[in-house]
Amino acid sequence: MDEPATSTAPPAVETPARRPLPTGRVRIGVVGAGNVADLNVAGYLDHPRCDVVAVCDVDAELAGAAARRWDVAKVYADFDDLLDDDDVDAVEVLTPTHLHHAHVLAALRAGKHVSVQKPLANSVPEARELARVAAESGLVLRVSECFRHYPPLERARELVEGGAIGRVVGVRIKTVVGQTDSAFQAGLRLEGYGWRLDGRSPGGHLFDDMAHKYAMALWLPGLDVVSVQAVVRRRDLYFEPCVALFEYEDPDVLGVMDVHFAPGMWLRSKYYGADELFEVQGDEGVLWVTRATGELLDVPPVVLYQGRDNVCRTVAEADVESDWGEGFRRSSAHFVDALLDGTEPAMTAGEAVRALQLCFAVYQASATRLPVDPRSISGPVTAEGWPEP
Ligand SMILES: NC(=O)c1ccc[n+]([C@@H]2O[C@H](COP(=O)([O-])OP(=O)(O)OC[C@H]3O[C@@H](n4cnc5c(N)ncnc54)[C@H](O)[C@@H]3O)[C@@H](O)[C@H]2O)c1
Repeated sequence: MDEPATSTAPPAVETPARRPLPTGRVRIGVVGAGNVADLNVAGYLDHPRCDVVAVCDVDAELAGAAARRWDVAKVYADFDDLLDDDDVDAVEVLTPTHLHHAHVLAALRAGKHVSVQKPLANSVPEARELARVAAESGLVLRVSECFRHYPPLERARELVEGGAIGRVVGVRIKTVVGQTDSAFQAGLRLEGYGWRLDGRSPGGHLFDDMAHKYAMALWLPGLDVVSVQAVVRRRDLYFEPCVALFEYEDPDVLGVMDVHFAPGMWLRSKYYGADELFEVQGDEGVLWVTRATGELLDVPPVVLYQGRDNVCRTVAEADVESDWGEGFRRSSAHFVDALLDGTEPAMTAGEAVRALQLCFAVYQASATRLPVDPRSISGPVTAEGWPEP
């Protein structure tokens, strides 16, 4: 008799069936009460159909302080204890990125819906595994992408979809990092940065903060990127000035992403010392989102120029809410609404995988100085010269 073939397939994942939510409300447990937690949790605390019922952090002081600020009764030091809590329907994962894979997996296996901060995981295989486990379990897994819910960018996408600039032919996303004396920045704990600077991360700023911009490069035109060319430099700490060129699946569409480090430049910002400028070029017009994290330009947050049939006009949308924190608030509210309405919340795990592939394609294209198809990135990638794990 033939020996049975040895299976190389991963073991079947045991996940409980989707648990019904209690009527009309979502009970959230938060894991990670670090630097970004207040921004994320604000939208849950404000939501009329949501209760933040538990908080967990290995740092008992941080967990206790967050519980007091948010008026949360249950405080855990061990994530497994939060996952054992039947009063928690969904988990907001705000731990360091290298822990997302383990924490999201554990939460899904405990039958909880999950919202996790970007980037979804440290590698494409890890991110794909999370997407697969979520799909098999029938639970919701979404990545909380605050730029996706930032009102000026939402408005830009609406204008693009509505044909306001004709057919998209180009996308430009500029990021500058400099100094700020914002109260937010001054309140950040330095300990929250260690894990970003060593082998616990597969790359620097292009992996961490730029996760947002890859997501926007894909979402604003609604097209996939099929080829990347890039030059990445290394500067102080983890900063990585970069110029990248994107070819989209529609050959008429080209994209540019540039990232600059300007340590002597003070930025007008209520948050981090960074600022962004987004431009979407159409064949009949162009639109700009003139800010995000910072507020460098004293102009309306959304500006549309239309030049159709020699009728030229500029529409400046000054009334769009442009506080960057609003993106977080709306992202959290969106997750609650989606769970209760049974709709799929943004950003999906599949979209997050594509954003990660784009990130790693930038690193790989710079290392090889050759074009890279992001869809070919299926294994782990570490930025050139970056510390090994
Ligand atoms: N959307 C954005 O603009 C934005 C901004 C900052 C951070 N982030 C993301 O949010 C996440 C957290 O970033 P941060 O800056 O708040 O980092 P942080 O280090 O300040 O916070 C992480 C917290 O997790 C806690 N923690 C670590 N291991 C734990 C464990 N096993 N169980 C429970 N708690 C644990 C830490 O004690 C810490 O308080 C990261 O994935 C980061 O990429 C997103």
